[in-house]
Amino acid sequence: TVRRLAAPDIAARKGGVPIVCLTAYTAPMAELLDEHCDLLLVGDSVGMVVHGLPNTVGVTLDMMILHGQAVMRGARRAMVVVDLPFGSYEGSPEVAYANAARVMKETGCSAVKVEAGPAVAENIEYMVKRGIPVMGHVGLRPQAVMVEGGFKAKGKADHERRRILEEARAAEEAGAFAIVVEGVAEGLAREITEAVSAPTIGIGASAGCDGQILVTDDMLGLFDWTPKFVRRYGDIRGEIAKAVAAYADDVRERRFPGPAEIYFAKAG
Ligand code: KIV
Ligand code: NA
Repeated sequence: TVRRLAAPDIAARKGGVPIVCLTAYTAPMAELLDEHCDLLLVGDSVGMVVHGLPNTVGVTLDMMILHGQAVMRGARRAMVVVDLPFGSYEGSPEVAYANAARVMKETGCSAVKVEAGPAVAENIEYMVKRGIPVMGHVGLRPQAVMVEGGFKAKGKADHERRRILEEARAAEEAGAFAIVVEGVAEGLAREITEAVSAPTIGIGASAGCDGQILVTDDMLGLFDWTPKFVRRYGDIRGEIAKAVAAYADDVRERRFPGPAEIYFAKAG
């Protein structure tokens, strides 16, 4: 049996070999990614990537639990972290704890992630003190899309840089074992990485972080548009289009199924 990586293993990787992370939403994909990744995030990006929602605001706790369960069935060695969705952790420490505990009990995951805005540090501390490993997420915070009016890179203005650095410090002081840093300029990503003792996991945040994460479907090339910070390591979209077109042709021309793909009645 393989031992699954846990929060202290990830925390100990500060400044070492970069931590390899990807998102996962389903069991078969989790099984494939597990071999290569240290950490799999069941991101609330599942709402946009899988369910066709315009942003992550509509994602529910039940959706996160279903996908968390699926990923846990596929992953063996990687640490699995489940995003707490919008509205499930901001209101009070008690509500955050109850929802996070439910996610951990019902999925078997090892930690939760929260978007660590200024109001949330207290809730992180409350959860960590009661046995829930928490990952923070600062910089571009997708759940704040409605107050921001869109998804915009962060930390271009001085006051914003200071605020994001403060949010990262607050998340670490509250006990976060790692911090996702999203959509910030390289200088700020390096500043945060130096300022906190928890490893930083970058997305659109330069190679100056202690690890990297991408939305798996983005890096596999499932969508025809991807943000600037995504490198496409595959062309899944093209592969699927080719395969489906070939299948459709074969069906219409009665080339599928062929002799090797049908059942025969027993002789006699
Ligand atoms: O929901 C998500 O996929 C995320 C990461 C990309 C960090 O939060
Ligand atoms: Na997320």
